[in-house]
Amino acid sequence: MRQKIIADVDTGIDDSLALLYLLASPDAEIAGIAATAGNVPAAQVAANNLAWLDVCRAPDIEVALGAAEPIAIPLRTTEDTHGPHGVGYAELPRSVRRLSRRTAAHLWVDLARAHPGEIVGLCTGPLTNLALALRIEPELPVLLHRLVIMGGAFNHPGNTTPTTEWNVHVDPEAAKEVFDAFAAAPPQRRPIVCALDVTETIEMRAEHLVRLATRANSYPVELVTETDPPEARSAASNPIVRYVTDAVRFYFDFHRSYGQGYLAHMHDPFAAAVALDPTLARTRAATVDVELAGTLTRATTVADWAGMWGREPNADIVIGTDPDVFFDRLISRVGDFARTVHPPAAQKLR
Ligand code: RIB
Ligand code: CA
Repeated sequence: MRQKIIADVDTGIDDSLALLYLLASPDAEIAGIAATAGNVPAAQVAANNLAWLDVCRAPDIEVALGAAEPIAIPLRTTEDTHGPHGVGYAELPRSVRRLSRRTAAHLWVDLARAHPGEIVGLCTGPLTNLALALRIEPELPVLLHRLVIMGGAFNHPGNTTPTTEWNVHVDPEAAKEVFDAFAAAPPQRRPIVCALDVTETIEMRAEHLVRLATRANSYPVELVTETDPPEARSAASNPIVRYVTDAVRFYFDFHRSYGQGYLAHMHDPFAAAVALDPTLARTRAATVDVELAGTLTRATTVADWAGMWGREPNADIVIGTDPDVFFDRLISRVGDFARTVHPPAAQKLR
């Protein structure tokens, strides 16, 4: 049985890996993709999503354009983190696929109404379009089978301000509306929240790209290093491996420039893996709310683990996982998919 997924993304380097993971997973059926403004503007996110579908020779999967701005404040993007077009150094060929005629918010509402209780929603960007969808259809928390959110930071430093995580920082009002609305979800359908506490343990390194290229029978197998110049581009024979290498190398350079090492936190594909298999994560229930008024702490996600607020839990926060299990799954699925979609040219007979 393939799990129907709505992928709401702000593609994004790690969002790209999340889309690839879902496309590569036989147990996943992407019902629709929502292009949310965040890492880059919504139109660029949408173009990236369409371009990745081309690279993956994917069937026609609906991509719907999201709101241009967060629900209450101007958009802030982060090209310094994800590259000028949101996919690092990768130069994806522009797609001729057409965008959906409906908005991302209506994609959420229409699909959830059409498949009650079946769809897992995956949000790996700001929650703008899910919040707009909830305003149209307040019953979404019970119409969806489950919701998985990459976002927030709890007992862990922020990556945007000292206490805030990027997706929530871009649209904190939307995040609050979503967490408040999902208080209505029954306990077994509480949103699973993949926050920085755990996603910053998912550290992709150059060796993981070597394993991916090897699994995909791509050649040459390249070991990227911090001395590679920005203008370097992968020569991998497999297009998926080639564009992933160029995208992720930018992310390696970014993390290194902030003293985190030559690595990249794979926030979004981890959330995608959890959406398909929640047993990958250990979780703990809590009541989550979002600070909107703090001078220093606006957009901070706050978890009440002990019921001090007297409110029912509205989230299952991921508190542990085994990164190696995740990377084994990512590399095997995406590597096999890349090899299938782009079979290696027959080796020249010597
Ligand atoms: O804070 C990490 C999140 O912000 C990830 O989803 C990344 O893609 C950016 O959107
Ligand atoms: Ca993202």
